[in-house]
Amino acid sequence: MRIDIITLFPEMCETVLGESIIGRAQKKGTVELHAHQLRDFAFDKHKRVDDTTYGGGMGMLMKAEPIALCFEHLCEELGTRPHLVYMSPKGQVLTQQRVRELSALSNLVILCGHYEGVDQRVLDEYVDEEISIGDYVLTGGELPALVLTDSICRMIPEVLSDDLCFEDESHYNGLLEYPQYTKPSVWRGKEVPEVLLSGHHANIEQWRHENSLLETAEKRPDLLRKVSLSDRDRQFLQKHGLL
Ligand SMILES: C[S@@+](CC[C@H](N)C(=O)[O-])C[C@H]1O[C@@H](n2cnc3c(N)ncnc32)[C@H](O)[C@@H]1O
Repeated sequence: MRIDIITLFPEMCETVLGESIIGRAQKKGTVELHAHQLRDFAFDKHKRVDDTTYGGGMGMLMKAEPIALCFEHLCEELGTRPHLVYMSPKGQVLTQQRVRELSALSNLVILCGHYEGVDQRVLDEYVDEEISIGDYVLTGGELPALVLTDSICRMIPEVLSDDLCFEDESHYNGLLEYPQYTKPSVWRGKEVPEVLLSGHHANIEQWRHENSLLETAEKRPDLLRKVSLSDRDRQFLQKHGLL
C-alpha cells in the first residue's frame, strides 16, 4: 500500500514514520509512504498557501489552488484517482473498523489542514471523506494524519511480526484486550494469575476471553452494547453483576 500525505510539515511526518515498526516496514518495502510539501505547489511570487477568510475573522485559511495542484499531480504520478481523506475535527471519528477498511486500499492520500482549516471549495471538489481522531481541536492535521497512517500500516500483512498481534488487540473484535503480564511471575508481592503459568492453552484462552469481557464491561460498557455476545458470555457477565 502507498500513502501520500499533503502537508506544510513533511519533515514532521517523515521523522515519526521513519521510526520503529513503520520505519522498518518502509525499508522492507511492505508500505510506501511519502510526505509532500504543499508550498511546492504554490506558484505565486510569495509561495502563499494561506490567506484571510472572506466575511472576516481572526485566522488564516489554506488556499484551494495549491491543494488542488498537489492532488492532481499525485493522481498523474499514481496513474489513478486515489481516495482522499481530509483530517478534520468535523469528520467521522476514526474507528478500528474504518482503519481495517482503509488498509485494504492500494493508495490513499491524506490532506493535513492548518490554521483555521481549508477553503471549502477544494474540499467539495476532491475530498472523499473527512476523518477526525476525536472530539477536540489540534493546531494541525499532521498528528491526526500520523495516527491514521500508523493505525492503517500495522494492519497490512507482514508489517507486524504476526497478524495475530492485532487480531487479539483491543477493538479488533469489538472488545478490549485482556490484561497482560511479563516476567517476573511475582513482582513486589503481586502474582501473575496462575492459569497463565499453567501451559494449558484452552484454559488460557478461556481466561483471556473472560477477562476481555470484564475489561470491556468495566472500562467501556458502551462497546459491550455493540458486540454480539454468546449465551455463555451473557451468563458470565451476569454472574459478575455486569449485565
Ligand atoms: C485548528 S484546526 C481547524 C479547526 C476548524 N476551524 C474547526 O473549527 O473545525 C486546524 C487543522 O487541524 C486538523 N485537526 C484539528 N483537530 C483535529 C481532529 N480532532 N481530528 C483531525 N484533524 C484535526 C485539521 O486538519 C484542521 O484543518
